Parts: sequence; structure tokens; C-alpha cells
Amino acid sequence: MLLTKSSEKCPNSTPHAHAWMRSARQFGEVILAPAIISLAVASVFGLTLRPQEPRSVWDGVYTKDQAKRGGSFYLQECSNCHGQELQGADMTPALTGLAFTANWDGLTLGDLFERIRITMPADRPGSLARQEIADILAYLLIVNKFPDGETELPREVQALKQILFQANKQ
Ligand code: HEC
Repeated sequence: MLLTKSSEKCPNSTPHAHAWMRSARQFGEVILAPAIISLAVASVFGLTLRPQEPRSVWDGVYTKDQAKRGGSFYLQECSNCHGQELQGADMTPALTGLAFTANWDGLTLGDLFERIRITMPADRPGSLARQEIADILAYLLIVNKFPDGETELPREVQALKQILFQANKQ
């Protein structure tokens, strides 16, 4: 019988010790290794997430030069409908003032970028380059009196989604 055979081997402790070592090694590979890996992953994420503090349009997220470029794009592409002073007209909403900033309050610059990219200019949507839209965004920010800064607005939606549109400084 198997049982008696193995108990007969008992006095010689080597097979048992090997079995114990094997299971200890397995414990190391199966339980500890993933634990160590997930600790490492957690600390890497901890490090990379920390600099991505939420930013808002009050943090100087565009430059004056970018807004200037955006201003000339705006005059060519948008002012026919939205007006030279962004005041709007008839059925076209203003892109400045309380109604506009309240409309976008709590959303992100990524949302505003996508709104413009997909639907504007209303008579020929999709005709603008991403860089032009980012520059026009900078122009909308300067006209709405959000502060300028040292770095230009990016033209990637994912990065723009990290910047909160807040109508009022918190
Ligand atoms: C042919 C006229 C026309 C042109 C050109 C045009 N728009 Fe518009 N825009 C509209 C109309 C009409 C609306 C409101 C209806 C709608 O959303 O389609 C609007 C809405 C918007 C909105 C939403 C406003 C809000 O408060 O939610 C934004 C932002 C905007 N336009 C930006 C632009 C920008 C930037 C350009 C230039 C690249 C542009 N538009 C060019 C007619 C125009």
C-alpha cells in the first residue's frame, strides 16, 4: 500500500525536506512574486500620478503668442458667424461672457476642443487642423480673461482633458 510505503520512508527525512523546499519555492513564485510586482507597479503609478494634479484654465495654460495666432485663425474661420468681438449674433451664440463660461463650467478644454473640432465652423466642420483649434482655444481663453502662461496649449485631446474649464477662480 502506498501509505505504509511512504511512512516506512519516514525515518529518512530527505524526501520530506525536499517536498518542503519545493513548496516553499512554489510559495515564493506563486504568492510572493506577484505581490512584489504589484507593489512595484503601485509605486511606479504613485510616482507618475502625483505630478498630474488637476489643472484649470486659471493656471496659465496657454501663451500670448499662441493666442495671437489663434486670433487670426478666429477672424478667418469664425468671426463671420460669432462676430469680431465674439459677441455672437441672431442664432449664433457668443463665445465670451457669462453665458459662454457658464455653459462650459466644470467641463474640460478637451470637451471644448472636441466640440469645435467636430461641429465648427458650422458651414464646413472638420476643415481645421488640430494646431489651429488649439490656437483658437488659446484665443478664446485670452478674450475671456483667463491668465496666460509659459507653455502653449497642447493639441492632443487626452492632454486637454486634464485641464478643467472653471468659470470662476476657486
Ligand atoms: C457658419 C456659421 C458659423 C461659423 C463659421 C462658426 N460657428 Fe460656431 N456656432 C455656430 C452656431 C449656429 C452655433 C450654435 C448651434 C450649434 O451648436 O451648431 C455655434 C456654436 C459654437 C460653439 C458652442 C458655444 C457654446 O456656448 O456651447 C462653439 C464653442 C463654437 N461655435 C465655436 C466656433 C469656432 C471656434 C469657430 C471657428 C473655427 C466657429 N464656431 C465657426 C455657427 C458658426
